Amino acid sequence: MDRVDFLVIGGGIAGLSAAIRLANVGTVLVVTKEELAESNTAYAQGGIAVAMGGAEDVALHLEDTVNAGDGLVNREAARVLVEQGPRRVEELLEWGTGFDRSVKGEGGVPAGELLRTREGAHSRSRILHANGDATGREIAVSLLRHVREIEQVELMEWTISVDLLLENGGVVGASLLDGEGGLRTVRARAVLLASGGAGQVYSETTNPEVATGDGIAMAYRAGAEVSDMEFYQFHPTAFSLPGAPRFLMSEALRGEGAWLVNSRGERFMERYHPMLELAPRDVVARAITREGMDGEVYLDMRHVKKDLQARFPGISKFLAKYNLELGRDLIPVRPAAHYLMGGVRTDLHGRTSLEGLYAAGEVACTGVHGANRLASNSLLEGLVFGALAAEAMMEEAPVGEVGLTAVATPVDGVPTAEAATERWIKELRELMWKDAGLLRDRTGLEQAQRGLDALAVTMPRGMFRRAVEARNLHVVASLIVTSALGREESRGAHYRNDFPERDAVARHSVMVRGELRFEA
Ligand code: SIN
Repeated sequence: MDRVDFLVIGGGIAGLSAAIRLANVGTVLVVTKEELAESNTAYAQGGIAVAMGGAEDVALHLEDTVNAGDGLVNREAARVLVEQGPRRVEELLEWGTGFDRSVKGEGGVPAGELLRTREGAHSRSRILHANGDATGREIAVSLLRHVREIEQVELMEWTISVDLLLENGGVVGASLLDGEGGLRTVRARAVLLASGGAGQVYSETTNPEVATGDGIAMAYRAGAEVSDMEFYQFHPTAFSLPGAPRFLMSEALRGEGAWLVNSRGERFMERYHPMLELAPRDVVARAITREGMDGEVYLDMRHVKKDLQARFPGISKFLAKYNLELGRDLIPVRPAAHYLMGGVRTDLHGRTSLEGLYAAGEVACTGVHGANRLASNSLLEGLVFGALAAEAMMEEAPVGEVGLTAVATPVDGVPTAEAATERWIKELRELMWKDAGLLRDRTGLEQAQRGLDALAVTMPRGMFRRAVEARNLHVVASLIVTSALGREESRGAHYRNDFPERDAVARHSVMVRGELRFEA
């Protein structure tokens, strides 16, 4: 491709849903770091929350979203999400996404109808799922199938975006580094960041290795506003065995009846919240952390009389590697970093504070999730706000000569060795988990700040993927720590031991060019 109208960075649900629309009016280049299917989208298990039962259903979804967000949700963004969600999900169905349907009238659902489950802080069962616990993968596969048929869309895999290209203060493209180390600059009429989250900033995460916050770091370096970075959602139930990955034990397990028990075998959630195991995610994560201080915490499904292998085939297959079985064994769990509520600040059409730059999905912060995202609202977010960002880009992108130009981006000094880069990243992730994780205080956060300052001195150099990611992780970590230090209250996923109360007025944090401010 030697000309591109729209550059989309990221191939998850938000990026692909935008690309499909943008292709109606111009050429689209979708760039992904690994193969297209490798994104947070594909790892989403539990499902996609959507209210398809009319106005009352939609209103309840709105209230659940607002309540879970602990006073910080942008109500207008949440309204758009829940109102436009059903239409977007109908579209997925038209494109062939195979959500699970009742076969023999199970749970009173007529044969052939969509099955729905429930997760934390939902007042009713409204979560569609696919292949039991592989909802994200099914959506990703069906979107990709659709996108691959569109001639106007070029897909460029194994390519990391390094930095945004600026002209007169506006964004006009990005520099890209391919798997062979080749650098080039793509110029575009408009750029969409759809590069997902940053779970890799923590040593304990459910996120895949691609989630290194590249979009946020690039946007911040270019001078865009970022918002609410202190709100990192810790999923309560990641698998917890020494040496094993923090594989997600979907909240849908609790939706289907799993209990949480401590090392004494006590079901403890009644001490923390009236919704018990289906309390908001931040509440459950903190409860598990506290109970886990003197022993393991487990998911217990031994009382659940369902075919759990059929309902959760992916989780069952994973557990079998450790000789564990849902319904037979206690499953050890602990919280792990899962989803960033903050990100590049946008309006409801993905517009950032920089002309020409748009963002949608986890990389963006519309305020739709407030301080704590409602379970299974993230796939819906990508779908709805990816489409809205595309609408704005189509209307606003300036018409003019664009080109794909090869340039020599300077390589900064002698490259750091790969092993040293890996050690540096490990150190950053561990310090973030220890001092800027679930339970925070000034002493720990200042310690994290000092650790990041020390790491800045030995920042990995060179133009190879892990060095680029290392630098991006450092930007994201610094944004989280600075915003967390500035927020002297506890709200949603941000809990300060030294400021356990919630402020009367909810304010969003905004960071731009090293300055932190709070806005109502
Ligand atoms: C899960 O299946 O528990 C994850 C769903 C989500 O992140 O909302």
